[in-house]
Amino acid sequence: MADYVVELKHVTKRFPGVIAMRDMHIQIKPGEIHGLIGENGAGKSTLIKVLTGVHVPEEGEIYVDGQKVSFANPVQAREAGIACVYQELNIVPMLPVVDNVFMGRKVTKPSGLLDYPRMHKEAHEALELLGHPEVDTHTECGKLGMGLQQMVEIAKAVSIKAKLLIMDEPTSSLGEQEVKQLMTTVRKLRDEGIAILFVSHKLEELFELCDRVTVMRDGEHILTEEMSTMTNDRLIQAMVGRSLENQFPKEFGTRGPCMLEVKHLKELGVLKDVSFKAYGGEILAFAGLVGAGRTETMRALFGADKIDGGEIYINGKLVSNKNPGQSIRNGIAFLTEDRKGQGLVLSESVKMNLILANMKRFKRALLLDHPKIEKNSQEMISTLRIKTPSSNEICAQLSGGNQQKVVIGKWINCDAQIYIFDEPTRGIDVGAKIEVYNVMNQLVKEGKCVIMVSSELPEVLGMSDRVIVMREGRVMAEIDRDSDHFDQESIMKAAWGGAIA
Ligand SMILES: Nc1ncnc2c1ncn2[C@@H]1O[C@H](COP(=O)(O)OP(=O)(O)OP(=O)(O)O)[C@@H](O)[C@H]1O
Ligand SMILES: [Mg+2]
Repeated sequence: MADYVVELKHVTKRFPGVIAMRDMHIQIKPGEIHGLIGENGAGKSTLIKVLTGVHVPEEGEIYVDGQKVSFANPVQAREAGIACVYQELNIVPMLPVVDNVFMGRKVTKPSGLLDYPRMHKEAHEALELLGHPEVDTHTECGKLGMGLQQMVEIAKAVSIKAKLLIMDEPTSSLGEQEVKQLMTTVRKLRDEGIAILFVSHKLEELFELCDRVTVMRDGEHILTEEMSTMTNDRLIQAMVGRSLENQFPKEFGTRGPCMLEVKHLKELGVLKDVSFKAYGGEILAFAGLVGAGRTETMRALFGADKIDGGEIYINGKLVSNKNPGQSIRNGIAFLTEDRKGQGLVLSESVKMNLILANMKRFKRALLLDHPKIEKNSQEMISTLRIKTPSSNEICAQLSGGNQQKVVIGKWINCDAQIYIFDEPTRGIDVGAKIEVYNVMNQLVKEGKCVIMVSSELPEVLGMSDRVIVMREGRVMAEIDRDSDHFDQESIMKAAWGGAIA
């Protein structure tokens, strides 16, 4: 058996104006979980796309089991035993599990008809191996939760007998429980001898799961090391090329007047009764498990979903936020959790996307003020460290994390009074997170009100002045930074429905 399942040597991949990957090498051993980390735009997704035959590199070699190969398309890579679970799952929600597992492949009887009994059996065996024998292969995929849909996607890889399974930020839309299950499954696959390449921005996750880790920066290989000898600080240093003093640069302001008050907000089946107050000059965090109703609360008060009861007051005045347009006029900016879908025009430039939420600020006598737009985009690119060849680059060409930064920039341009950030740092690298926190600090300093929905407890504890914990469409607890209960344990307890002493 060859030493490595997959090996890349001297691989270079260029795009117009950008070298996405330069003289890159990586060696993946059979039965190891190999972490891959790097800043936004470092070249991780490009590496994956080269391994899966989506991109053909200009230079370099790829070896599978010691044999030199070249992939002209994704089918060839799959046939060589390389499978990938992308962040946006390739599941067809209307189809049953079995058809999703066998997507793009056929198992036929001698008669030429599809052999469904065998397909069900194999799909079930794959799911059983993943630790989910309870999933009925007849169920429509859309009816399963996110975690199980992902299992179906992994089952697809298992059923083609993949040697290498690549996962690109697989935990970003999973709840805590689902993340635990996924980790168990990934370890099981490793024990079956399958190699895993695991891409993530979450350091704790990599430390918990991986046997080895590779760091990329600016398209190049920086290091590959055993995880057991790696430290947090060295990993960050390798990623960003400098050490980061403080991951949560919290600044303390003075609490101003109540800017937003929500009373008895209700939405059938989703929000039971939500009341809270948010003040200028503070960061109010919303914590809770996935599905607790945090995003739904924000969408409801922003007018993105219809409510069945409740009142919203802005600066003491009753308002009706019937739709997002009205809410924006009432001074609310909402950075949604689903930034790709709701935030960005992919075919437009970085510069234009940045001004999209507030065109009128960038007009002079009805015409666009181009020098002003350019100045603004240069500022945003440097504040948020957006990695782009220029402000004219089309957003579709940016890496995932850099697209998110553009959306954040767009909402900062909004001149709002109340800023709602839903999972603001999901998918962005450690360095960029700090920039986002600094933006929040700045807003608070200007007396604005910042609401942050976050599933990352370190971030909640690191940056907020007050935290509201939700569970099943209700507010369970409100904990002040000064309180004795401002800690991980109390928040988790409330999130699971327990009382805080
Ligand atoms: N199709 C493309 N056309 C032009 N440039 C591209 C294209 N795809 C990627 N790039 C550029 O290549 C570089 C590497 O991007 P890549 O998507 O590999 O980064 P990444 O490490 O996956 O980042 P993230 O953590 O944000 O997902 C970036 O500068 C990106 O803008
Ligand atoms: Mg990427």
